[in-house]
Amino acid sequence: MKKFIKNLPKAELHLHIEGSFEPELMFEIAKRNNITIPYKSIEEIKKAYNFNYLQDFLDIYYQSAAVLVTAQDFYDLTFSYLKSCAAQNVRHTEIMFDPQTHTERGISFETVISGITKACKDGEKKLAITSLLIMSFLRHLSEKDAFKTLEQSLPFKDKITAVGLDSSELGNPPSKFKNVYEASIKEGYIPVAHAGEEGTATYVWEALDILKIERIDHGNNALQDSNLISEILNRDIALTVCPLSNKALKVVTDLKDHPLKKMLDLGLKVTINSDDPAYFGGNINKNYFEIQAALNLTKHEIYQLAKNSFKYSFINDTLKEQYL
Ligand code: ADE
Ligand code: ZN
Repeated sequence: MKKFIKNLPKAELHLHIEGSFEPELMFEIAKRNNITIPYKSIEEIKKAYNFNYLQDFLDIYYQSAAVLVTAQDFYDLTFSYLKSCAAQNVRHTEIMFDPQTHTERGISFETVISGITKACKDGEKKLAITSLLIMSFLRHLSEKDAFKTLEQSLPFKDKITAVGLDSSELGNPPSKFKNVYEASIKEGYIPVAHAGEEGTATYVWEALDILKIERIDHGNNALQDSNLISEILNRDIALTVCPLSNKALKVVTDLKDHPLKKMLDLGLKVTINSDDPAYFGGNINKNYFEIQAALNLTKHEIYQLAKNSFKYSFINDTLKEQYL
């Protein structure tokens, strides 16, 4: 089974580039930028990665991202992730990045996007991996702040495919971002959002009806509401599910209790993703391995999950046909 998963061509649709920041690279970049980090060793870092819920993780994730300063840093971060994709037979990836995590610290939008896009171009040339970008708004910040980010993105519009919504879900419902999503759609960005990770089914409804999202990041709690399940099925909207993330952030207590199999049985279009692989104990293949073992998924189900990852990606139809 592991060999089957390894050899299967896959796409990754839910990946935060800042969450792919491996400790080794973090040390290297911190050193060259003369930034002190609160860890002395990789072991200390690994010990700190012990989370009880989403906010525990986010506090550490933002702190670590603060060592990224130059376009070269963003290039190295992204290219390192793309190399790991190549090693896992990930052929296409849709990378989320959080501009506000960096612009709030005085790093320009251009620095962030130029480093990331240069790595993506090299990834295509040298590693034969296609990629596109999802610019995510931080939901713990205001809608006004998100509007500022949208404005900053416009000179680079040709490099960005979609907008997303991430960070602290509870207390920051999708409806808070109604206007900026409306404006983003007008600019041609495809809307997606994290919903139903820690938030209730109501948050998923809002993301669908108010933000008009075309893909749901996580969506676990959509299963609380049978009308919502029917609606997601009717709209043929996919869920980007992240098993090891859910385990690490205690969204599920054990992978055996993970709703993924139930989702598949309901006919929902599910994909498997790593979310923040450097923090949650595993890359995309490890997510496939562990959820397969926990839920006893068949080869046919694994194949279907990988197929969904291409079918529900945002690549153009010609390329999609090549992958399918
Ligand atoms: N930012 C990075 N990973 C995230 C997650 N799993 N949920 C919300 N925001 C995030
Ligand atoms: Zn995420």
